[in-house]
Amino acid sequence: MGCPDNNRVFSSGIARNAPLLEFRPLFPPRLYHMTPRKILVTSALPYANGAIHLGHLVEYIQTDIWVRFQKMRGHTVHYVCADDTHGTPIMLRAEKEGIRPEALIARVHGEHSRDFAGFHVAFDNYYSTHSDETRHYAEDIYARLKAAGLIEVRAIEQHYDPVKEMFLPDRFIKGECPKCGAKDQYGDACEACGAAYAPTDLKNPYSAVSGAKPELRHSDHYFFKLSDPRCQAFLRQWTRAPGRLQPEAANKMQEWLGADEENRLTDWDISRDAPYFGFGIPGAPGKYFYVWLDAPIGYMGSFQNLCDRTGLDFNTYWAKDSDTEMYHFIGKDILYFHALFWPAMLEYAGYRVPSKVFAHGFLTVDGAKMSKSRGTFITAESYLQQGLNPEWLRYYFAAKLGSTMEDIDLNLDDFVQRVNADLIGKYINIASRAAGFIAKRFDGRLPATDCTPAFRAELPGLMEAAEEIAAHYEAREYNRALRRVMALADQVNQYVDRNQPWVLAKDPGKDAQLHQVCTLLINAFRLLTLYLKPVLPRLARRAEEFLAIDPLHWADAAHLLPAGHRINAYEHLMQRIDPKQVEALVDANRESLAPAAAATVTTTSTATTANPATAPETASPHPSGDDKARTAATIGIDEFSKVDLRIARIVEASHVEGADKLIRLQLDIGEERPRQVFAGIKSAYDPATLVGRLTVMVANLAPRKMKFGLSEGMVLAASDEGGQTPGLFILSPDSGARPGMRVK
Ligand code: 2FM
Ligand code: ZN
Repeated sequence: MGCPDNNRVFSSGIARNAPLLEFRPLFPPRLYHMTPRKILVTSALPYANGAIHLGHLVEYIQTDIWVRFQKMRGHTVHYVCADDTHGTPIMLRAEKEGIRPEALIARVHGEHSRDFAGFHVAFDNYYSTHSDETRHYAEDIYARLKAAGLIEVRAIEQHYDPVKEMFLPDRFIKGECPKCGAKDQYGDACEACGAAYAPTDLKNPYSAVSGAKPELRHSDHYFFKLSDPRCQAFLRQWTRAPGRLQPEAANKMQEWLGADEENRLTDWDISRDAPYFGFGIPGAPGKYFYVWLDAPIGYMGSFQNLCDRTGLDFNTYWAKDSDTEMYHFIGKDILYFHALFWPAMLEYAGYRVPSKVFAHGFLTVDGAKMSKSRGTFITAESYLQQGLNPEWLRYYFAAKLGSTMEDIDLNLDDFVQRVNADLIGKYINIASRAAGFIAKRFDGRLPATDCTPAFRAELPGLMEAAEEIAAHYEAREYNRALRRVMALADQVNQYVDRNQPWVLAKDPGKDAQLHQVCTLLINAFRLLTLYLKPVLPRLARRAEEFLAIDPLHWADAAHLLPAGHRINAYEHLMQRIDPKQVEALVDANRESLAPAAAATVTTTSTATTANPATAPETASPHPSGDDKARTAATIGIDEFSKVDLRIARIVEASHVEGADKLIRLQLDIGEERPRQVFAGIKSAYDPATLVGRLTVMVANLAPRKMKFGLSEGMVLAASDEGGQTPGLFILSPDSGARPGMRVK
């Protein structure tokens, strides 16, 4: 699936039909001496039981842009990925469909490959973890960890479904929350009160698979001894290496690792009992590798498969002493797996460790989680089926993406406006304004003399910006790269307005001037195309055809089209987005996804995983909308401590005459008199049931005068806005808390 011009070290820069002698490249000398880097790049492996959606695409588009950029720079890059095929959800999903897991994963592999290709995500190999290669490395790594004394077998107690005859992962046990009593809560955390607990703490548990009452049974599990002092010491050093992790990620790691003398890491359970869809553990009948053990090993499996197909040497990239680079692009919620387990596994199995891990944030649509009910949970397939151009989305995502773990928002109005204004209004128009004159008046030919001096004088900075833009791409600051490119496009459009080729065209005496203006514009268009090419590969390909040139490489920014070059006839390169197309897309997703929403129980997780030992095996790295708790932008502790949160006892609660949503509360927070607060929780609570309860309030919110009286604070309540769980849930502190206590 790789680009046809993959890994070409340097472009000749020679236009296809240019007379050779006229070509004078101006490569800066340092480019001649640049040693091509050898880079292995991965994106997280999507689960083989769900469709690719716009949230996933943030990551694949981000990675693909980086890979394409590196290839344009002349580096040797291999971009591999695969479907993540193992685990209980996939096994049960196949069973539900009445097919074998192998049939399910084969089908989904086809769907994922189609969707990625549709968005021009050009993997060099898109494989599967259910492969001989991945099995080989899983067994190999396990054997080496065992030989290093890092595997331990311990009996643990777990819920067992006696009807289904299987142990139940946390997400497949439901019951009443041990804290607040809410019904139908998952085995790891309560969606009503937010409490986290072990599945064995649930009251009246039942199996989400069969509905049976689970039994507690013992079973031997295999653990990777992450608590071993060697792992601790190694991970401290690895996570602190400069540039290895983004600053936010490095901080998170320090939190997880604790102070130097502490040992916070716990051993990691890497086995699951039969029935399980996965690889059997050698020498351990009935035991399987946990899906998260072999998922990252899938990076090796996919690469090995690429090597076997193309003759590449696996060890050049994976041997301990490898001098190549390896980068993992991931979502921020699977950092734990990639920055702790994975490097420790590799290190003690004798392989190289990742050079860097690049984590991105989640996607929101119109400022909120993607939502099936609002139609903003948009699949890749539906986007393409509705006839929207994938490069619009690539451009928009790139314009939003920086190098941090911050979430990005797809604002649908802004999407239309920005793509139309930037790509059509600023960039494409340059070609369309000049091409007609060159074709009709000059037979498609550029002047016989070199226009470089005029270009540099009239459009200063356009050639020179190449290295600055490259630095932005290199640092994954695509938003900055595109801002710079659009500023250059503005400059070119000002040149058009100053020179008005349509006016020059009316005066036969100004032919030479018209020829020069249009030539400069065509050259400017070529440079802008080059700068945008990592983001817009298909558009760039078509622009190269129009310009009659070989595929552009970064070094080609150092020269212009040769004198006398002949371009092809211009055909419109990109349409504007019609806002109606976006409306239709949202409508289509609202309707078509409604029935599917109920089927997601096996593929979802609710919260960012705090403890890897209890990590749900279906945790998605991707912004999956309704399925996923998503955090707001990071704030510092100083900002947080400005909010004075207090334990409050509800001493009175009453309906408010004339208010549909409000309940009047009198809250005791240990002050002389209770505070009056109007809370919008009438839809969820009968005032009588609230009296006497403890809850949490914001005590330093400026008082607000309302129609019904003064509101002197706010109570906190959780809700699943736009998601599947209706209702409002006020908070309750654990027993022992007293009115007035500060919450921090
Ligand atoms: O969370 C997920 O969607 C996993 N399938 C990601 C695996 S990434 C890598 F480790 F394989
Ligand atoms: Zn609860």
